[in-house]
Amino acid sequence: MKKVGLVGWRGMVGSVLMHRMLEENDFSKVDSYFFTTSQTGQLGPDFAGDAKPLLDANDVNALSEMEIIISCQGGDYTKSVYPALRESGWNGYWIDAASALRMAQESIIILDPVNNDVITQGLEQGVKTFVGGNCTVSLMLLALGGLFEKDLIEWVSPMTYQAASGAGARNMRELITQMGEIHASVAQQLADPGSAILEIDKIVANKIKSEDLPTDQFGVPLAGSLIPWIDVPMESGQSKEEWKAQVEANKILGSLKSPIPIDGLCVRIGAMRCHSQAMTIKLKADLPVDEIERILASHNEWVKVIPNDREQTAQELTPVNVTGTLSIPVGRIRKLSMGPEYISAFTVGDQLLWGAAEPLRRMLRIILE
Ligand code: HSE
Repeated sequence: MKKVGLVGWRGMVGSVLMHRMLEENDFSKVDSYFFTTSQTGQLGPDFAGDAKPLLDANDVNALSEMEIIISCQGGDYTKSVYPALRESGWNGYWIDAASALRMAQESIIILDPVNNDVITQGLEQGVKTFVGGNCTVSLMLLALGGLFEKDLIEWVSPMTYQAASGAGARNMRELITQMGEIHASVAQQLADPGSAILEIDKIVANKIKSEDLPTDQFGVPLAGSLIPWIDVPMESGQSKEEWKAQVEANKILGSLKSPIPIDGLCVRIGAMRCHSQAMTIKLKADLPVDEIERILASHNEWVKVIPNDREQTAQELTPVNVTGTLSIPVGRIRKLSMGPEYISAFTVGDQLLWGAAEPLRRMLRIILE
Protein backbone atom coordinates (compact mmCIF):
# COMPACT_ATOMS: atom_id res chain seq x y z
CA MET A 1 0.00 0.00 0.00
CA LYS A 2 1.17 3.50 -0.76
CA LYS A 3 2.37 5.68 2.11
CA VAL A 4 0.10 8.72 2.29
CA GLY A 5 0.93 11.70 4.51
CA LEU A 6 -1.93 13.93 5.66
CA VAL A 7 -1.25 17.51 6.71
CA GLY A 8 -3.87 19.95 8.01
CA TRP A 9 -6.39 17.17 8.63
CA ARG A 10 -7.73 18.86 11.79
CA GLY A 11 -8.82 22.16 10.21
CA MET A 12 -12.22 22.77 8.63
CA VAL A 13 -11.45 21.54 5.10
CA GLY A 14 -9.23 18.78 6.51
CA SER A 15 -12.01 17.56 8.81
CA VAL A 16 -14.48 17.45 5.93
CA LEU A 17 -11.88 15.51 3.94
CA MET A 18 -11.33 13.01 6.80
CA HIS A 19 -15.08 12.50 7.06
CA ARG A 20 -15.40 11.82 3.33
CA MET A 21 -12.37 9.51 3.33
CA LEU A 22 -13.96 7.50 6.14
CA GLU A 23 -17.31 7.40 4.33
CA GLU A 24 -15.66 6.14 1.14
CA ASN A 25 -13.37 3.71 2.93
CA ASP A 26 -10.27 5.42 1.50
CA PHE A 27 -8.12 4.67 4.56
CA SER A 28 -8.32 0.94 3.87
CA LYS A 29 -6.54 1.52 0.53
CA VAL A 30 -3.51 3.38 1.89
CA ASP A 31 -0.90 3.34 4.62
CA SER A 32 -1.78 6.67 6.25
CA TYR A 33 0.51 8.92 8.31
CA PHE A 34 -0.67 12.05 10.06
CA PHE A 35 1.50 15.15 10.32
CA THR A 36 1.24 18.11 12.68
CA THR A 37 2.79 21.54 12.93
CA SER A 38 2.46 21.66 16.73
CA GLN A 39 2.03 18.25 18.37
CA THR A 40 4.82 16.02 17.03
CA GLY A 41 5.02 12.72 18.88
CA GLN A 42 1.51 12.81 20.32
CA LEU A 43 -0.78 9.95 19.36
CA GLY A 44 -2.52 10.59 16.03
CA PRO A 45 -6.10 9.76 15.06
CA ASP A 46 -7.18 6.18 14.42
CA PHE A 47 -9.16 6.77 11.21
CA ALA A 48 -7.38 3.77 9.76
CA GLY A 49 -7.66 1.72 12.95
CA ASP A 50 -3.92 2.00 13.70
CA ALA A 51 -3.19 5.25 15.54
CA LYS A 52 0.50 6.18 15.22
CA PRO A 53 2.46 9.10 16.71
CA LEU A 54 2.06 12.35 14.79
CA LEU A 55 4.96 13.31 12.54
CA ASP A 56 6.49 16.77 12.15
CA ALA A 57 4.89 18.57 9.19
CA ASN A 58 7.97 20.77 8.83
CA ASP A 59 10.43 17.87 8.70
CA VAL A 60 11.36 17.42 5.04
CA ASN A 61 12.97 14.05 5.80
CA ALA A 62 9.78 12.69 7.37
CA LEU A 63 7.66 14.08 4.53
CA SER A 64 9.95 12.63 1.89
CA GLU A 65 9.24 9.11 3.21
CA MET A 66 5.72 9.53 1.81
CA GLU A 67 4.69 8.53 -1.71
CA ILE A 68 1.67 10.85 -1.63
CA ILE A 69 1.08 13.94 0.52
CA ILE A 70 -2.31 15.59 0.90
CA SER A 71 -2.19 19.07 2.40
CA CYS A 72 -5.11 21.10 3.76
CA GLN A 73 -2.72 23.13 5.88
CA GLY A 74 -3.03 26.32 3.81
CA GLY A 75 -0.99 28.39 1.40
CA ASP A 76 1.70 29.60 3.81
CA TYR A 77 2.57 26.01 4.69
CA THR A 78 2.69 25.01 1.03
CA LYS A 79 4.94 27.96 0.20
CA SER A 80 7.37 27.12 3.01
CA VAL A 81 7.53 23.32 2.71
CA TYR A 82 6.80 22.33 -0.89
CA PRO A 83 9.85 23.97 -2.57
CA ALA A 84 12.23 22.49 0.03
CA LEU A 85 10.66 19.07 -0.40
CA ARG A 86 10.98 19.14 -4.19
CA GLU A 87 14.53 20.55 -3.94
CA SER A 88 15.44 17.60 -1.71
CA GLY A 89 14.69 15.40 -4.70
CA TRP A 90 11.30 14.12 -3.49
CA ASN A 91 9.29 12.93 -6.47
CA GLY A 92 6.04 11.91 -4.79
CA TYR A 93 2.52 13.13 -5.49
CA TRP A 94 1.56 16.39 -3.80
CA ILE A 95 -2.22 16.96 -3.55
CA ASP A 96 -3.11 20.38 -2.15
CA ALA A 97 -6.25 22.29 -1.20
CA ALA A 98 -4.46 25.67 -1.05
CA SER A 99 -4.27 28.06 -3.98
CA ALA A 100 -0.49 28.64 -3.77
CA LEU A 101 0.48 26.21 -6.57
CA ARG A 102 -2.70 26.38 -8.68
CA MET A 103 -1.31 28.46 -11.49
CA ALA A 104 2.20 26.94 -11.35
CA GLN A 105 3.38 25.42 -14.62
CA GLU A 106 4.06 22.07 -12.96
CA SER A 107 0.57 21.66 -11.46
CA ILE A 108 -2.83 20.50 -12.65
CA ILE A 109 -6.02 21.86 -11.10
CA ILE A 110 -8.10 18.80 -10.24
CA LEU A 111 -11.82 18.44 -10.87
CA ASP A 112 -12.03 15.00 -12.42
CA PRO A 113 -15.72 14.95 -13.43
CA VAL A 114 -14.78 17.92 -15.64
CA ASN A 115 -11.12 17.41 -16.55
CA ASN A 116 -10.39 13.71 -16.19
CA ASP A 117 -8.71 13.83 -19.61
CA VAL A 118 -6.34 16.62 -18.49
CA ILE A 119 -5.53 14.67 -15.29
CA THR A 120 -4.95 11.36 -17.10
CA GLN A 121 -2.72 13.01 -19.68
CA GLY A 122 -0.81 14.82 -16.91
CA LEU A 123 -0.22 11.58 -15.01
CA GLU A 124 1.07 9.93 -18.19
CA GLN A 125 3.44 12.86 -18.69
CA GLY A 126 4.73 12.55 -15.10
CA VAL A 127 2.92 15.46 -13.44
CA LYS A 128 3.17 15.02 -9.68
CA THR A 129 1.49 18.16 -8.31
CA PHE A 130 -2.32 18.35 -8.17
CA VAL A 131 -4.23 21.24 -6.67
CA GLY A 132 -7.91 21.67 -5.86
CA GLY A 133 -9.55 24.63 -7.62
CA ASN A 134 -11.14 27.71 -6.16
CA CYS A 135 -14.53 26.71 -4.77
CA THR A 136 -16.72 28.95 -6.94
CA VAL A 137 -14.81 27.88 -10.04
CA SER A 138 -15.18 24.16 -9.30
CA LEU A 139 -18.87 24.53 -8.43
CA MET A 140 -19.59 26.52 -11.60
CA LEU A 141 -17.79 23.98 -13.80
CA LEU A 142 -19.65 21.06 -12.24
CA ALA A 143 -22.95 22.84 -12.86
CA LEU A 144 -22.19 23.94 -16.43
CA GLY A 145 -19.91 21.01 -17.34
CA GLY A 146 -22.16 19.79 -20.16
CA LEU A 147 -22.12 23.12 -21.97
CA PHE A 148 -18.36 23.52 -21.56
CA GLU A 149 -17.70 19.97 -22.73
CA LYS A 150 -19.67 20.56 -25.91
CA ASP A 151 -17.90 23.88 -26.45
CA LEU A 152 -21.22 25.72 -26.46
CA ILE A 153 -20.21 28.62 -24.23
CA GLU A 154 -18.95 31.89 -25.72
CA TRP A 155 -18.69 33.60 -22.34
CA VAL A 156 -20.08 33.45 -18.79
CA SER A 157 -20.62 36.16 -16.21
CA PRO A 158 -21.01 34.54 -12.79
CA MET A 159 -22.30 36.77 -10.00
CA THR A 160 -21.60 34.96 -6.75
CA TYR A 161 -23.29 34.72 -3.38
CA GLN A 162 -20.52 33.23 -1.25
CA ALA A 163 -20.93 31.67 2.16
CA ALA A 164 -18.98 32.57 5.32
CA SER A 165 -17.12 29.22 5.33
CA GLY A 166 -15.09 30.31 2.30
CA ALA A 167 -13.46 32.90 4.56
CA GLY A 168 -12.78 30.39 7.34
CA ALA A 169 -14.11 28.77 10.49
CA ARG A 170 -13.73 31.91 12.60
CA ASN A 171 -15.76 33.84 10.06
CA MET A 172 -18.61 31.34 10.37
CA ARG A 173 -18.59 31.79 14.13
CA GLU A 174 -18.59 35.56 13.74
CA LEU A 175 -21.59 35.46 11.40
CA ILE A 176 -23.62 33.37 13.86
CA THR A 177 -22.59 35.60 16.76
CA GLN A 178 -23.67 38.69 14.80
CA MET A 179 -27.02 37.05 14.04
CA GLY A 180 -27.52 36.17 17.72
CA GLU A 181 -26.62 39.63 18.96
CA ILE A 182 -28.92 41.27 16.44
CA HIS A 183 -31.80 39.06 17.50
CA ALA A 184 -31.10 39.63 21.17
CA SER A 185 -31.27 43.40 20.66
CA VAL A 186 -34.96 43.19 19.69
CA ALA A 187 -36.08 39.92 21.30
CA GLN A 188 -38.46 41.72 23.63
CA GLN A 189 -40.13 43.73 20.86
CA LEU A 190 -40.37 40.65 18.61
CA ALA A 191 -42.23 38.77 21.33
CA ASP A 192 -44.89 41.49 21.30
CA PRO A 193 -47.02 41.18 18.12
CA GLY A 194 -48.19 44.76 18.64
CA SER A 195 -44.72 46.35 18.52
CA ALA A 196 -43.95 48.67 15.60
CA ILE A 197 -41.82 47.10 12.85
CA LEU A 198 -40.09 50.38 12.03
CA GLU A 199 -39.00 50.68 15.64
CA ILE A 200 -37.59 47.13 15.46
CA ASP A 201 -35.86 47.98 12.19
CA LYS A 202 -34.28 51.07 13.73
CA ILE A 203 -32.92 49.14 16.72
CA VAL A 204 -31.58 46.41 14.38
CA ALA A 205 -29.93 48.96 12.08
CA ASN A 206 -28.30 50.66 15.06
CA LYS A 207 -27.12 47.32 16.41
CA ILE A 208 -25.61 46.28 13.07
CA LYS A 209 -23.80 49.60 12.77
CA SER A 210 -22.68 49.70 16.40
CA GLU A 211 -19.09 49.25 17.45
CA ASP A 212 -19.95 46.39 19.80
CA LEU A 213 -21.06 43.97 17.02
CA PRO A 214 -18.09 41.59 16.57
CA THR A 215 -16.42 42.25 13.19
CA ASP A 216 -12.83 41.15 13.76
CA GLN A 217 -12.93 38.54 10.99
CA PHE A 218 -14.92 40.21 8.21
CA GLY A 219 -14.00 43.76 9.17
CA VAL A 220 -17.61 44.88 8.71
CA PRO A 221 -21.01 43.37 9.59
CA LEU A 222 -22.17 40.47 7.41
CA ALA A 223 -25.40 39.48 9.19
CA GLY A 224 -28.20 41.66 7.84
CA SER A 225 -25.81 42.94 5.16
CA LEU A 226 -23.41 41.70 2.47
CA ILE A 227 -19.86 42.42 1.33
CA PRO A 228 -19.40 42.87 -2.44
CA TRP A 229 -15.65 42.20 -2.34
CA ILE A 230 -13.74 38.95 -1.71
CA ASP A 231 -9.94 38.74 -1.42
CA VAL A 232 -7.34 41.33 -2.41
CA PRO A 233 -7.63 43.85 -5.27
CA MET A 234 -5.99 43.19 -8.66
CA GLU A 235 -4.76 45.94 -10.98
CA SER A 236 -7.61 45.12 -13.38
CA GLY A 237 -10.16 46.35 -10.81
CA GLN A 238 -11.24 42.78 -10.18
CA SER A 239 -10.99 41.24 -6.76
CA LYS A 240 -8.64 38.25 -6.73
CA GLU A 241 -11.64 35.93 -6.31
CA GLU A 242 -13.10 37.40 -9.54
CA TRP A 243 -9.75 37.10 -11.35
CA LYS A 244 -9.55 33.40 -10.48
CA ALA A 245 -12.74 32.52 -12.38
CA GLN A 246 -11.32 32.85 -15.88
CA VAL A 247 -7.73 31.75 -15.27
CA GLU A 248 -8.55 28.72 -13.14
CA ALA A 249 -11.56 27.57 -15.16
CA ASN A 250 -9.57 27.69 -18.38
CA LYS A 251 -6.63 25.90 -16.76
CA ILE A 252 -9.01 23.17 -15.56
CA LEU A 253 -10.57 22.91 -19.02
CA GLY A 254 -7.17 22.91 -20.73
CA SER A 255 -8.15 26.00 -22.74
CA LEU A 256 -5.64 28.58 -21.44
CA LYS A 257 -4.32 29.22 -24.98
CA SER A 258 -7.69 30.57 -26.16
CA PRO A 259 -9.52 31.22 -22.91
CA ILE A 260 -13.28 31.44 -22.59
CA PRO A 261 -14.06 34.82 -21.00
CA ILE A 262 -15.46 34.26 -17.48
CA ASP A 263 -15.90 37.34 -15.32
CA GLY A 264 -18.34 38.71 -12.79
CA LEU A 265 -18.64 40.10 -9.27
CA CYS A 266 -18.02 38.04 -6.13
CA VAL A 267 -20.15 38.84 -3.10
CA ARG A 268 -20.01 37.50 0.46
CA ILE A 269 -23.43 36.82 1.95
CA GLY A 270 -24.66 35.40 5.25
CA ALA A 271 -24.95 31.74 4.19
CA MET A 272 -22.97 29.15 6.13
CA ARG A 273 -21.14 26.80 3.71
CA CYS A 274 -22.85 26.81 0.31
CA HIS A 275 -21.82 29.16 -2.45
CA SER A 276 -24.46 30.20 -4.98
CA GLN A 277 -23.92 31.81 -8.37
CA ALA A 278 -26.26 33.59 -10.77
CA MET A 279 -24.87 33.21 -14.26
CA THR A 280 -25.45 35.06 -17.47
CA ILE A 281 -24.28 32.85 -20.31
CA LYS A 282 -23.77 33.68 -23.96
CA LEU A 283 -24.06 30.47 -25.94
CA LYS A 284 -22.46 29.90 -29.33
CA ALA A 285 -25.81 28.71 -30.70
CA ASP A 286 -29.53 29.28 -30.23
CA LEU A 287 -30.45 26.04 -28.43
CA PRO A 288 -33.90 25.25 -27.05
CA VAL A 289 -34.09 25.32 -23.24
CA ASP A 290 -35.01 21.63 -22.99
CA GLU A 291 -31.91 20.69 -24.94
CA ILE A 292 -29.75 22.90 -22.71
CA GLU A 293 -31.27 21.19 -19.68
CA ARG A 294 -30.62 17.76 -21.14
CA ILE A 295 -26.98 18.61 -21.89
CA LEU A 296 -26.44 19.96 -18.36
CA ALA A 297 -28.20 17.05 -16.62
CA SER A 298 -26.29 14.34 -18.48
CA HIS A 299 -22.80 15.65 -17.76
CA ASN A 300 -22.09 14.15 -14.34
CA GLU A 301 -23.90 12.26 -11.60
CA TRP A 302 -24.07 15.19 -9.14
CA VAL A 303 -25.61 17.93 -11.27
CA LYS A 304 -29.38 18.16 -11.05
CA VAL A 305 -31.48 20.42 -13.25
CA ILE A 306 -34.24 22.15 -11.30
CA PRO A 307 -37.18 23.16 -13.50
CA ASN A 308 -37.78 26.91 -13.73
CA ASP A 309 -40.70 26.64 -11.33
CA ARG A 310 -41.25 28.83 -8.29
CA GLU A 311 -42.00 26.12 -5.76
CA GLN A 312 -39.26 23.69 -6.81
CA THR A 313 -36.72 26.51 -7.02
CA ALA A 314 -37.51 27.72 -3.51
CA GLN A 315 -37.34 24.17 -2.15
CA GLU A 316 -34.32 22.82 -3.97
CA LEU A 317 -32.08 25.59 -5.30
CA THR A 318 -30.90 26.91 -1.95
CA PRO A 319 -27.91 26.68 0.39
CA VAL A 320 -30.18 25.19 3.04
CA ASN A 321 -31.14 22.31 0.75
CA VAL A 322 -27.64 21.62 -0.53
CA THR A 323 -25.58 21.96 2.64
CA GLY A 324 -23.63 18.84 3.59
CA THR A 325 -24.33 17.12 0.25
CA LEU A 326 -22.47 16.62 -3.00
CA SER A 327 -25.51 17.67 -5.00
CA ILE A 328 -25.06 20.46 -7.57
CA PRO A 329 -28.51 21.78 -8.44
CA VAL A 330 -28.73 24.18 -11.38
CA GLY A 331 -31.93 25.98 -12.25
CA ARG A 332 -33.53 29.29 -13.28
CA ILE A 333 -32.52 28.31 -16.80
CA ARG A 334 -34.32 30.55 -19.26
CA LYS A 335 -33.71 32.67 -22.31
CA LEU A 336 -32.85 36.28 -21.52
CA SER A 337 -34.36 39.22 -23.35
CA MET A 338 -30.94 40.16 -24.79
CA GLY A 339 -31.33 37.54 -27.51
CA PRO A 340 -31.82 33.81 -28.19
CA GLU A 341 -28.21 32.88 -27.36
CA TYR A 342 -28.35 34.51 -23.91
CA ILE A 343 -29.46 32.36 -21.00
CA SER A 344 -29.55 32.63 -17.24
CA ALA A 345 -28.77 29.89 -14.74
CA PHE A 346 -28.46 29.70 -10.96
CA THR A 347 -26.45 27.08 -9.13
CA VAL A 348 -25.64 26.15 -5.53
CA GLY A 349 -22.89 23.91 -4.16
CA ASP A 350 -21.31 23.00 -0.83
CA GLN A 351 -18.00 24.82 -0.86
CA LEU A 352 -16.39 22.52 1.71
CA LEU A 353 -17.28 19.35 -0.22
CA TRP A 354 -17.03 19.79 -4.01
CA GLY A 355 -15.54 23.22 -3.42
CA ALA A 356 -12.57 21.91 -1.39
CA ALA A 357 -12.30 18.38 0.02
CA GLU A 358 -13.89 16.06 -2.55
CA PRO A 359 -11.58 16.69 -5.53
CA LEU A 360 -8.58 15.87 -3.28
CA ARG A 361 -9.77 12.43 -2.17
CA ARG A 362 -10.89 11.63 -5.71
CA MET A 363 -7.39 12.50 -6.97
CA LEU A 364 -5.95 10.13 -4.36
CA ARG A 365 -8.20 7.37 -5.73
CA ILE A 366 -7.13 8.15 -9.31
CA ILE A 367 -3.44 7.82 -8.33
CA LEU A 368 -4.15 4.55 -6.53
CA GLU A 369 -6.01 3.03 -9.52
N1 HSE B 1 -12.01 31.97 -1.76
C1 HSE B 1 -13.25 31.35 -1.45
C2 HSE B 1 -14.11 32.21 -0.61
C3 HSE B 1 -13.08 30.04 -0.75
O1 HSE B 1 -13.58 33.18 -0.04
O2 HSE B 1 -15.29 31.96 -0.50
C4 HSE B 1 -11.98 29.17 -1.20
O3 HSE B 1 -12.02 28.78 -2.54
